[in-house]
Amino acid sequence: MDRIQTRGNIPLCGEVIIQGSKNAALPLMAAAVLHRGTTVLHRCPQILDVEYMSEILRGLGCMVRREGGTLIIDARELSAFCVAPQFATMLRASVLLMGSLLGRCGCARLPYPGGCTIGQRPIDLHLQVFERLGAVVCPEEKGIGVYADTQLQGCNLQLAFPSVGATENAILGAVLAKGTTVLEGCATEPEIAELCRFLNQKGARIEGIGRRRLTITGVTCLQDSQYTLMPDRIVAGTYLLAAAGTRGNISVRGICPGHLGALTAVLQKTGAEVKILRDAICMNAGEAHLPVPSVQTEPYPGFPTDLQSQLMVFLTGADGESRIEERLFESRFLIAEELRKMGAEIAVDGQSAVIKGKNRLKGGIVRAQELRGGAALVAAGLMAEGETVILGSHFIKRGYEDICRDLSGLGADIKEL
Ligand code: EPZ
Repeated sequence: MDRIQTRGNIPLCGEVIIQGSKNAALPLMAAAVLHRGTTVLHRCPQILDVEYMSEILRGLGCMVRREGGTLIIDARELSAFCVAPQFATMLRASVLLMGSLLGRCGCARLPYPGGCTIGQRPIDLHLQVFERLGAVVCPEEKGIGVYADTQLQGCNLQLAFPSVGATENAILGAVLAKGTTVLEGCATEPEIAELCRFLNQKGARIEGIGRRRLTITGVTCLQDSQYTLMPDRIVAGTYLLAAAGTRGNISVRGICPGHLGALTAVLQKTGAEVKILRDAICMNAGEAHLPVPSVQTEPYPGFPTDLQSQLMVFLTGADGESRIEERLFESRFLIAEELRKMGAEIAVDGQSAVIKGKNRLKGGIVRAQELRGGAALVAAGLMAEGETVILGSHFIKRGYEDICRDLSGLGADIKEL
């Protein structure tokens, strides 16, 4: 029935194993199109966005099948270079097919990926990259075509902003280009390093992995490969913040703790005890009640915008006033209105939100409008007195394999209706 019901006020306790990363799976699936062969992705999360991307690849002529946590992509035959609007408009990451189709067959046509509830999300930086690599960008009636009469030509590229998607698209366009591309001003999110490692394992030549400057030497072809995806740092961070809001005591396992440095620093400021292990974070949030005077979202390694809503929910229960500044997306405070229905006092002024704290959230009926805000509302339900129903739970399935399974495993009273 596209809704989740929770009963709150239960401290989350126990441990949870974290799924594979959505924001690594999607670029790696797009990258598989560069290769006339087979790509096997292990620990591929079973989420709607992977299903949508699988349908996009099938629409291009790829064969895609799932065996449990493994996705097998056979991209030997491509029958199209136009990405089907039906799925492309649902999935921002469809824009990454531009780079891989250009690299594979010299042409790509996609519907405008369009904005979404968190912001306009233009693709100007992506298009600038393709023009610098020698492609022609043609706005068309229903979308955008990018065409290269000859093989893409490596060049020196400077990104005006460390856009995750534009960095990924530049890598995808450069891997099979003629010559060498030096990409400056790259985003350094862990998912980009994952894409580089994945491509190098297939025979690409990318140097500077994890840094703001990448050097990509074009190769003529790639090879079959099997790859195990990194864990999803945003899912892990979501569960840590949800547990902190209930003053719980949990361990998130099977993760790369170094990917969550900005979050663990904030959690420690609230009074939570945080222990970092090799592949886990153990947190006792019994004393996590301090407000955080000011947090800004920033490109990695700064505080991730994808955990901003979840932090806002936690701060409604802090013993004082906190302030969040959202620097990446222009409308990512949508859940403030829903939290006010639960008794929160949140003042939004442009890109800043002041959360009064000292509020005991009260259960109620709230509506998810996008992925991370939806997950944050579930966390609000776990903190609240009484029962909460979160409408629009399909948004959450885009990025969380089974949020009810994971949170009930930590003792939450939660179920899908
Ligand atoms: C990726 O989106 C993630 N998605 C987002 O996660 C994440 O919030 C974002 O990076 C920032 O970390 C995936 O990886 C699939 P950007 P992306 O290009 O690549 C502006 C989630 O919940 N911009 O770094 O689209 C843009 O409007 C999702 O998992 C331009 O102006 O993010 C935004 O304000 C949500 N022109 C800012 O840059 C461009 O050409 C950051 O966008 C491109 C971006």
